[in-house]
Amino acid sequence: TLKSIAKFATAASILTASLNVFAEPVEIKFSHVVAENTPKGQMALKFKELIEQRLPGEYVVNVFPNSQLFGDNNELAALLLNDVQFVAPSLSKFERYTKKLQIFDLPFLFEDMDAVDRFQQSKSGQKLLNAMNRKGVVGLGYLHNGMKQFSANDPLNVPKDANGKKFRIMASDVIAAQFDAVGAIPVKKPFSEVFTLLQTRAIDGQENTWSNTYSMKFYEVQSHITESNHGVLDYMVVTSNTFWKGLPADKRAVFKSSLDEAIALGNKIAAEKGNEDKQAILDSNRSQLVTLTPEARQQWVNAMKPVWAKFEDQIGKDMIDAAQAANT
Ligand code: LMR
Repeated sequence: TLKSIAKFATAASILTASLNVFAEPVEIKFSHVVAENTPKGQMALKFKELIEQRLPGEYVVNVFPNSQLFGDNNELAALLLNDVQFVAPSLSKFERYTKKLQIFDLPFLFEDMDAVDRFQQSKSGQKLLNAMNRKGVVGLGYLHNGMKQFSANDPLNVPKDANGKKFRIMASDVIAAQFDAVGAIPVKKPFSEVFTLLQTRAIDGQENTWSNTYSMKFYEVQSHITESNHGVLDYMVVTSNTFWKGLPADKRAVFKSSLDEAIALGNKIAAEKGNEDKQAILDSNRSQLVTLTPEARQQWVNAMKPVWAKFEDQIGKDMIDAAQAANT
């Protein structure tokens, strides 16, 4: 019987070995809400390419753009249920998990994308990647999109032009306060609904980057875009603690380095796209550009900057100081 046990064991191990040869690769899902021709869309595709090249046969990465799989209202919950392994919501969409990231929504805090980048790479910025660890959300890196502009169906030159108008906003209390500050009516809605809301005039305007305004065709249903650069729209690429810790250490290292490379490409595209997509919108003649005089811009700053004080306790004064220091 010892012999037959040995025989059985050999047969079993041959069977297992041959099964491994035909083993299906593990499916990894990356879900996002924007188009493919965007910094985030391209970053996700690069990540897929690198993982499948470096861990062939072991993993496939399926990317779901345009809120096809999950949208703003459920992508983080889905992540924690391990129904998706990577998402990259805008920094404005983590409020339920941490109040610390609200810093990125403070109006007129960052002078430009270089300042945003300096802050994100600083000690304070890197610390924020861990702000949701206790909730099971692991921050793996920041990804740029760009500075936000206002759009509407009327020219917005000075704050009183926004008075009484409805603006779609991301689910962020800071952004809500920013629009309250100029007497506008903020309406929290998922990204996937914005085009239709604008087209049907259910809302009057919105704020977004040149890239999102172009790729989602918002400029076709908005008569004016004000070049305000009043805030930043960037992302955090996140995974769940369950998935991340469940990966073998050597694989995890490949995932991390591939992601870093994909993010570097995404950031390069973000820097280029800001200008390209703005130009494409201007060339289309569908939307008119509103350029603010320094005096007019100062009026927006004066109206919106008091929002900082309301959130200072939740965000931390030290963080706000660190962010401001990145401007110089
Ligand atoms: C938005 O909701 O306007 C953006 O956060 C969409 C995105 O992911 O860029």
